[in-house]
Amino acid sequence: MPNTVEAHERVKDLEWSPSFESRRDRYPTKYRIPPKTKDPFRTLIREYVSMEEEKDDRQYGSLEDVLARTNAPGRAQRRWLEILKALLPMVNFAEYAAMKACSQLVDTVANQELRMGYQAQMIDEMRHTHQQMYLNRYFAKHAPDPEGFTQGMKLKGQNLFGRASRSAFETFFMGDPIEGVMNLQVVTETAYTNALFVSMTEMAAAQGDDVTPGVFLSIQSDEARHMANGYSTLAAVISDAGNLEHLQGDFDRGFWRQHNFLDSFLGAINDYSQVNRGRSYAKKWQEWVAEDWVESFVSKLEPFGLKAPSDLPLARERVPWMAHSVFMVAVGGWPLMYWRQDPLTDADMEWFENEYPGWYDQYGWFYEGMREMQAPGSGNPFLLFPEMPPVCRVCQMPCICRASTSTTSASRSTRGGGTPSARRRARGSSIRSRAATWASRPSGSSGTGTGSTSSSSSRGCSGPTGRPSSPSRTAPTIRR
Ligand SMILES: [Fe+2]
Ligand SMILES: [Fe+2]
Repeated sequence: MPNTVEAHERVKDLEWSPSFESRRDRYPTKYRIPPKTKDPFRTLIREYVSMEEEKDDRQYGSLEDVLARTNAPGRAQRRWLEILKALLPMVNFAEYAAMKACSQLVDTVANQELRMGYQAQMIDEMRHTHQQMYLNRYFAKHAPDPEGFTQGMKLKGQNLFGRASRSAFETFFMGDPIEGVMNLQVVTETAYTNALFVSMTEMAAAQGDDVTPGVFLSIQSDEARHMANGYSTLAAVISDAGNLEHLQGDFDRGFWRQHNFLDSFLGAINDYSQVNRGRSYAKKWQEWVAEDWVESFVSKLEPFGLKAPSDLPLARERVPWMAHSVFMVAVGGWPLMYWRQDPLTDADMEWFENEYPGWYDQYGWFYEGMREMQAPGSGNPFLLFPEMPPVCRVCQMPCICRASTSTTSASRSTRGGGTPSARRRARGSSIRSRAATWASRPSGSSGTGTGSTSSSSSRGCSGPTGRPSSPSRTAPTIRR
């Protein structure tokens, strides 16, 4: 009986090509991959399946048994449950797209070591789609307000942000399969899955949701292997110098596409869906993306010719502000969404001002407008916008992310003293008058408006350097 290592080697030797048919390039790639490289992780499918089966038994068993009998979803904060209605269907498409990408890679990459890894990941991703759909169904059955969970999979296809999520995650399998690896394993899984699954697990537990953490941690436990797939593929690509001419451009584009959606999406969920608040998204981004991913992962590849994404400095500049700007569109456009958005309380606004100094002067008036327009017939915060922001034809996001560092310093220098509630009392109660005050600021202090003098102000929401930026109109100033 061979040991595991020998059995693993023997399985790879069983590769064969049919003599009766020549190989077709169904998903052609411009990259050359060596036929033999290092194995990302040595696991036989038999061991893999029993390991995953055990995880599934634990998860589904606890969901069906004790959590259902104790009415666990009923104890969770409603604000948090509402955002799960958007999160679960959108992330579920990412899992499906990842599964499809891995099956393409098995077809494209003629390297048995890498194929073993892609095959296991493909099964993982299929398992993740099932877990998340089960969780969505679970909430549809047990949540106090199931509306949204019951229809999320259907409605996300027509929803503004559902369409944007699809545009971001389709990059996993559209185009060259190795460019898909840049988007999926190298950027999304290595840089962002901590900010998604680990962060959401922590937040769910803090909001009294005992159901989601078990599912998300089970999913995240597979991600280390997926990151290893990305690293091994990168190592194989870099080993052929002829690939380098393509690699940096594909990597830069992958980073920009995922940053543009994920930093808005995860930032909004992190900062606007918690009642019992933890760290801000900006701090999590600094730890997981800027330090762990850029400084520990990407920098190791620099000696081999791969540099940090060219638009990383711009992304760093946008992260503290972009989610707040984009989320205004979700809040103001509530009749078009299939989830409810809880208004911000005074305590929330204090938290925002502490975590993002200058937030209140940039966004406070808008989120107060939302609070004041709760009663039927009292208006809609969207009416404070002079027009709908255009939607980018590439990333499908509203073109509203134009904050720059000059904005931040300007807003800090012009804001009044005291806490948000003290400043609010000093300014009177009319949201429209506060909106007008905000609009009358010098243009350089407008967080989302035109007129900033920073170099980033000329950049639309899509397209890294050198890529076509597709909005057909100039991004509007969000002001009254
Ligand atoms: Fe996954
Ligand atoms: Fe994954």
